[in-house]
Order: sequence, then C-alpha cells, then structure tokens
Amino acid sequence: MSDAILTARGICKDYRDGDRVAHVLRGIDLTVERGEFVAVMGPSGCGKTTLLNVLGLMARPTSADVLLVDGADCLSLSDRGRTTVRRERIGFVFQRFNLLRTISARGNIDLALQLRGAALDGQAARVLREVGLEECVHRKPGHLSMGEQQRVAIARAVACRPAIVLADEPTGNLDSANTQLVIDLFRRFHDAYGLTVIMITHDAGCASAADRILHMKDGMLEPVE
Ligand SMILES: Nc1ncnc2c1ncn2[C@@H]1O[C@H](COP(=O)(O)OP(=O)(O)OP(=O)(O)O)[C@@H](O)[C@H]1O
Ligand SMILES: [Mg+2]
Repeated sequence: MSDAILTARGICKDYRDGDRVAHVLRGIDLTVERGEFVAVMGPSGCGKTTLLNVLGLMARPTSADVLLVDGADCLSLSDRGRTTVRRERIGFVFQRFNLLRTISARGNIDLALQLRGAALDGQAARVLREVGLEECVHRKPGHLSMGEQQRVAIARAVACRPAIVLADEPTGNLDSANTQLVIDLFRRFHDAYGLTVIMITHDAGCASAADRILHMKDGMLEPVE
C-alpha cells in the first residue's frame, strides 16, 4: 500500500534577473514513500539544490499543483505555518555542515531541539553517541574534523526525529573514509528508525546506497525506466 510522505506535482521555480527569467525547475513530479531513501543526481546547475529548498520549504515554488509534506498541504500554508512544518518534520544536512561555530556539538543539537519546542532530557548526548561522537559533546566545530562536523550535523538533523531528512551533497567536502561513515549513518538511521532520506549527490557510490536513484536534468526529473 502506498504511504507517501512527500508528494510534489508540477513544481516550477523561476529566478528573475532584470528582464531575464531562468526557468530552474520545470515541472517536477515526485512521490517519496515513508521510509524511502532516495538519491538525486544530475549535472551542476540543473536545479538540485533549488528543488531541495522547495521541498524543504526554504523557498516557495513559482507555481505548483501539489506539495504535501507528511500530510501538510504546504501550498496553502502561511510563512509561519511553513516554518512550523519545516521545524517539526524536516531535518537538513548541508555540504558545509552549517553548524554554529561558537557553541559546542551538544549546544548545536540542543538549539535545534529548543527551536522545535522539544525536551532536551539527554537527547543530544544520545544522538551524539549514536553517531560515535560521545567524546566530542563539549567541543566546538572548530575543534572537530570535517567528518566529525558532518556527523554532528547528522545528529542534529535526526535529533528531533523528523519525518524526512534532506541532504544536499553531504559528502561533498569529505574524503572517502568519512564519505563512507556518513553514508553508513544515513543508511543506519533509515534502517533503524524508518527515516525518510532525500540526498543529493554527485557520487555514484553514495547514490548506490539509496533505495532509488533519480536523475535530474535541466530542471526536470528524468523518467525512470
Ligand atoms: N537565488 C538565485 N537567484 C538566481 N538564480 C539562482 C538562484 N539560485 C540558483 N540559481 C540558478 O539556478 C540554477 C540551478 O541552481 P542549483 O543551485 O539549484 O543547481 P544544482 O543542481 O544544485 O548545482 P550544483 O550541483 O552545482 O550544486 C543555476 O543556474 C543557478 O545559477
Ligand atoms: Mg547544489
């Protein structure tokens, strides 16, 4: 039985620069099932980050027919409603980690939990243990390796038990050993908690960890044979 956690139909996004309009997303249709791990591949500039930003409610589409995230009709929501859905149901992992540099690993996770209104009750330490960083709880990002920073970012993304995690080239700044660690973590959270993951990657090896690989070109998803 189908249990879609994300349904997108007819997603279009234009960027206007003076008189010029760039049609960056040109009618994206995408359904992701609850608990699916999906990889998105495609050439630089084809619109992958733009798509993730629209699906993650960080940007509004220029036009769209349907955008349902975990049952929420995101096209009819106000900015405040979109922020609530984003905070409560979506976790993000970025290529450059996007950790706050002035606070510790635990502080970064506590902040995400507080923004969601969730209890702290040791959850940050727990998820840091799950990503193998129990020793690093009090360290600030500047005192962590790149691979460790990304594992903190993953811990932060999953700490709130989101419905879906969106990852934009999460291994783009990592060597092969750390790339493998990061992919293994996504896979483990996916297998253990039924976490839904949508991950953009340029790395075919990373994509092969997913249940399904989507190919994007010129603002459209190519049909799957
Ligand atoms: N805020 C913006 N204003 C204008 N144009 C933009 C904006 N953001 C992205 N673009 C343009 O939209 C196109 C798609 O960008 P996007 O970042 O989505 O590509 P991408 O597939 O993620 O590329 P990469 O693999 O290099 O990260 C690019 O041509 C980019 O220059
Ligand atoms: Mg991108």
